[in-house]
Formats: sequence, structure tokens, C-alpha cells
Amino acid sequence: MKKVRIGVLASGRGSNLQAIIDNIEKGRLSAELAVVISDQADAFALERARKHGIPAVPAGAKGFKDKREEYDALLVKELQKRSVDIVCLAGFMRIITPVLIKAFPNRILNIHPSLLPAFPGLHVQKKALDCGVKFSGCTVHFVDEGMDTGPIIIQAVAPVLDNDTEDSLSERILKQEHKIYSRAIQLYAEGRLRIEGRRVFVTEGRTTADEFLINP
Ligand code: GRF
Repeated sequence: MKKVRIGVLASGRGSNLQAIIDNIEKGRLSAELAVVISDQADAFALERARKHGIPAVPAGAKGFKDKREEYDALLVKELQKRSVDIVCLAGFMRIITPVLIKAFPNRILNIHPSLLPAFPGLHVQKKALDCGVKFSGCTVHFVDEGMDTGPIIIQAVAPVLDNDTEDSLSERILKQEHKIYSRAIQLYAEGRLRIEGRRVFVTEGRTTADEFLINP
């Protein structure tokens, strides 16, 4: 089976990227990382890529302030040059435009640290704590033209505890992120995802519910 070639876009520390790298190296994910691109030249994500021999491309966004489409065209060129099959956004802090989305229709994935559609956008953990939810979690979804709105592939749940701060909740959720991003990519690689409207069906996915989560 041909391995899915992934292009990762990241702006920061890249812990999700690292989880993908580790899963590939351990043989748990049959994919290859074709390139890691960052809008921040000093992003630790680039450092992580270099350490594992993955092409790391700084793509500074200075000079593209009101030219989002032009910036995205540059990303598309770079991704296509590397024959990328899918694009994984992993802490990429820019809003992407239809230029990128149309170049990779239903082939861009994003990870978000909440159970979407709850709490899209920024300051996600603060919103979850302020709202008083007992569970939060994370979501991997296909990217469409809205903000964190695309069809949901996979979610993981994390409890919100009474002594939680934004940091402690983020940390608990991040552990789940590191599991589900690779799983979503693996399902994609195996050709098991089918999008119908807003729903993503998984071939031979779960069809019984015998576990329930209760908190507290
Ligand atoms: C993660 O919480 C992810 O859900 C969000 O940005 C953060 C990126 O973290 N989109 P990292 O750079 O992968 O460590």
C-alpha cells in the first residue's frame, strides 16, 4: 500500500507533530512526513522535523498581512512540490483561505482542543471552564471554509475537574490529542473515511454503544 504523504503546518511547539513522528517511527501509523512548514521561523516544530530528517520549511508571513490568499498560494506550491496527499494543521495559528482548501478538497485535517462544535476559536480552555462543562476533549475534523466547523472525524473526551486551571485542562486534553490525530490519519490512510454531509462514517467503525462516561 502506498504510504500517505503528509504535509504538516505548525506555528509552535509541535507536540502533535511529535506524536505523529513517533507513531510513524514505531510502525503504528503507515504514513510519511513529506514536509513541515511553519509561519514562524523559530517554531520548535521545525526543530523537531529537522531532528528526524523531515524537510522543514520556514515560511514567514511578514509582508503577507493583507494578502492571505497569496500566502496560501505559496503554501500550496510548497505542498504540491512535495507531492503531499493530505495536509495536517497542528497548532497552525493562521486562518487559511479557500486557496488552500480548494487545492486539497477534503484533504486538510485540523486538531482542536475541545469537543466541537463547542468552543471553536481561541482561549478554548477558558471558555470550557467558564461554561462549567464536566467534560471537554478534542476533535480532529476535515477543514472547510468556516472556523473549526468541518466534518468531524474523531473525538476524545477528558473530564473537567474541580481544581482545573486552563493549563491543567489543556495538558489532560493534549494527551488525548496525541492519540487521536494519528488514529484519524491512519483511518484516512486505510481509505476508511466517507463524508456524507456533516457526518464522517468509518468503514467497519463502531455500531454498538456499551460504554458510558459519567462525571462526576
Ligand atoms: C493543540 O492544542 C491543538 O489542538 C491546537 O493547537 C495546539 C497545538 O499544540 N490546534 P502543539 O503545537 O501540537 O504542541
